[in-house]
Amino acid sequence: MFSKLVQRRTLGALCNLRASISSAGPAATEKPVEEALSSEYVYDREAKYGAHNYHPLPVALERGKGVYVWDVEGRRYFDFLSAYSAVNQGHCHPKIVNALNSQAEKLTLTSRAFYNDVLGEYEEYVTKLFNYNKVLPMNTGVEGGETACKLARKWAYTVKGVPKYKAQIIFAAGNFWGRTMSAISASTDPSSYEGFGPFMPGFKVIPYNDLPALERALQDPNVAAFMVEPIQGEAGVIVPDDGYLTGVRQLCTAHNVLFIADEVQTGLARTGKMLAVDHENVRPDIVILGKALSGGLYPVSAALCDDEVMLTIKPGEHGSTYGGNPLACRVAMAALEVIEEEKLSENAKLMGELLRSELMKAPSDIVTAVRGKGLLNAIVIKQTKDYDAWKVCLRLRDNGLLAKPTHGDIIRFAPPLTINEEEIQECTEIIHKTLLSF
Ligand SMILES: Cc1ncc(COP(=O)(O)O)c(C=O)c1O
Repeated sequence: MFSKLVQRRTLGALCNLRASISSAGPAATEKPVEEALSSEYVYDREAKYGAHNYHPLPVALERGKGVYVWDVEGRRYFDFLSAYSAVNQGHCHPKIVNALNSQAEKLTLTSRAFYNDVLGEYEEYVTKLFNYNKVLPMNTGVEGGETACKLARKWAYTVKGVPKYKAQIIFAAGNFWGRTMSAISASTDPSSYEGFGPFMPGFKVIPYNDLPALERALQDPNVAAFMVEPIQGEAGVIVPDDGYLTGVRQLCTAHNVLFIADEVQTGLARTGKMLAVDHENVRPDIVILGKALSGGLYPVSAALCDDEVMLTIKPGEHGSTYGGNPLACRVAMAALEVIEEEKLSENAKLMGELLRSELMKAPSDIVTAVRGKGLLNAIVIKQTKDYDAWKVCLRLRDNGLLAKPTHGDIIRFAPPLTINEEEIQECTEIIHKTLLSF
């Protein structure tokens, strides 16, 4: 206790010191002499030198282990966001960290100008695991989406016979697949696209979870693909009706259109199955993976499909300097092995059921809906003048749990999939205590 008090006082003094340094102008860029940083200092420095393209919850993290993260002042929190489902395996998983460290000492990047001894091993591993002929390795999730769109267009022109540059790709309203010009061109969220036009042609948006709308859209013979999230994550964990994915598969097959499943957020055990499409046993033509493909250590993404589609892209027509580098390949194999060895799908299913059943007990005048699958969940907060989702998240933070609002009134609850029953109970106590305090 005594040492904690001393520590706090010291940090307080550091804060004051830094406040005076930062008001002095350029000196603030100098590396602070002391080891510990205050949260306020971290916020201020980012605000001063970084682009303002995010609005983070005020908490400054410096360490993570499993389901926990710690801030710069040593406070511990449950991570209920998992870096938007990138940290499914838990923070700093030792097996993945080991894979990264040992490969980092050997060979990190060759570019695809040359072969490397790990890429083929990873390609064989990942294609056998997901039962596709081939994989195209990229880095971020949005690059996975771009790859899928390019494959679909190329396939449309070279296999399906769509007239040159007439190909259409259909998306569902509420989709989110990243921030590139293509991704925002498919978006229905003004905060994604407003002010960034002109947009990519050849994209069409239909309502989500609406098979008749898809059937109407597929009457156009120039449609190359329908790209869809099996559960819409960023839109607020929107779970479609049972049978939707089966219907999508049937309609796409009937109209000779590629079914692209964006599993960047829903994939890799998050929803209680390795892929969310596995809940309906459907096989998309292209699967996009990202986020947890690296367990949160490194940007790794992939597009998986069979030869008929993949081999339409020839040497020089697509790629990335870092895509398929040996470090990424080792990390991805370790990350996938952890999911299997630790039976994270099964755990996500069980813990998700427990979490939702506890969340259902929340006061209905505050929480108007609870939804999700596996450990991809959300609650909808009724907005009043006294509270909203942001205020709830601030108070959750004060009580030791980190979550972030999406679309104003929705809070996503997506902890690492390694979470156990005791921890879920502790977290639901924090959530109930927080909600009842309003
Ligand atoms: C479903 C989905 N697809 C694609 C992406 C984009 O991934 P990244 O941010 O790694 O580009 C996201 C990111 O949240 C996502 O949720």
